[in-house]
Amino acid sequence: MQEIDNIIQTYLKELSYEPILTMLAKTSSGKKLRSKLLLSIAGESKEAYNLCAIIELIHLASLLHDDIIDESDLRRGAKSINAEFGAKNALMLGDILYSKAFYELSKQEKNIAQNLSNAVCKLAIGELMDVDLSKKFNENKDAYLTMIYHKTAVLIEASAKCGAMLAKLDEEAFGAYGKNLGLAFQIVDDVLDITSDEATLGKPSLSDFKEGKTTLAYIYLYEISNENDKEKLKNLFKKDLNEEEKAWLKQQFTEKNVIEKSIIEAKRYGNLSLEAIKKYKNEKLETIVKALIDRNF
Ligand code: FPP
Ligand code: MG
Repeated sequence: MQEIDNIIQTYLKELSYEPILTMLAKTSSGKKLRSKLLLSIAGESKEAYNLCAIIELIHLASLLHDDIIDESDLRRGAKSINAEFGAKNALMLGDILYSKAFYELSKQEKNIAQNLSNAVCKLAIGELMDVDLSKKFNENKDAYLTMIYHKTAVLIEASAKCGAMLAKLDEEAFGAYGKNLGLAFQIVDDVLDITSDEATLGKPSLSDFKEGKTTLAYIYLYEISNENDKEKLKNLFKKDLNEEEKAWLKQQFTEKNVIEKSIIEAKRYGNLSLEAIKKYKNEKLETIVKALIDRNF
């Protein structure tokens, strides 16, 4: 993963503007899930590493823009770029990272460039869907799934597909692996927002609901609540919850088994992703899915 960070540094140094590197240094390096998938499928080569750097730049840019949109002050436990340097700088840094990524992408094979740019359009549409769904309490599971597919799974799907394209393997099978892994990943992430504490999350717990995000466990909870509890739940939407309200919410989640139900759904997608690539017996890809779904919540 160090090699990918080195390529990103080289790309951005070429732009000869020091503040870009200063701001970049304040972002914490993520898990690089998308790169891990691509390299596990395509194997290691200069071309594969360049493509990983491009994908990580796109991912980082989308997070910069997302933190502006969500008005988040924390990212991966550290101050977000918008909190540290202001929204204007974070916005432009995101634009620079995107543009440089696309410049480098133009040097790749046409099918790879088209696959990835198409995914980035969908990614932005996913963010629009997220903003739209956050306007009111969303009770619709299909709308939630369509949104997380666009917002999260699309880039993971495209990264796996790019790996298959480089290695001349089955794009559909590896794409299906990435898509289902991406859906499982976002559902797990949304569950952790409810079940983890601030120290683990690197941001306050239950922050999704405060931001207007009615994630899967909330949708399930609403579905099986009586009229009285439905009303109470809707009244807490987007509110800065006090301790009593947080305790009520957590008790509802436990009592109605909706966390468990969400985890079962995440595992279902995890198993679909394993199924898609079963015949390739790729242990690295299998381990990535298992580490995500076989864990304590
Ligand atoms: C995080 O979601 C956000 C994303 C995974 C995608 C963000 C995409 C954009 C901002 C659109 C990209 C823009 C262009 C121009 C292509 P989250 O807020 O649920 O997760 P978080 O808790 O990590 O913030
Ligand atoms: Mg966000």
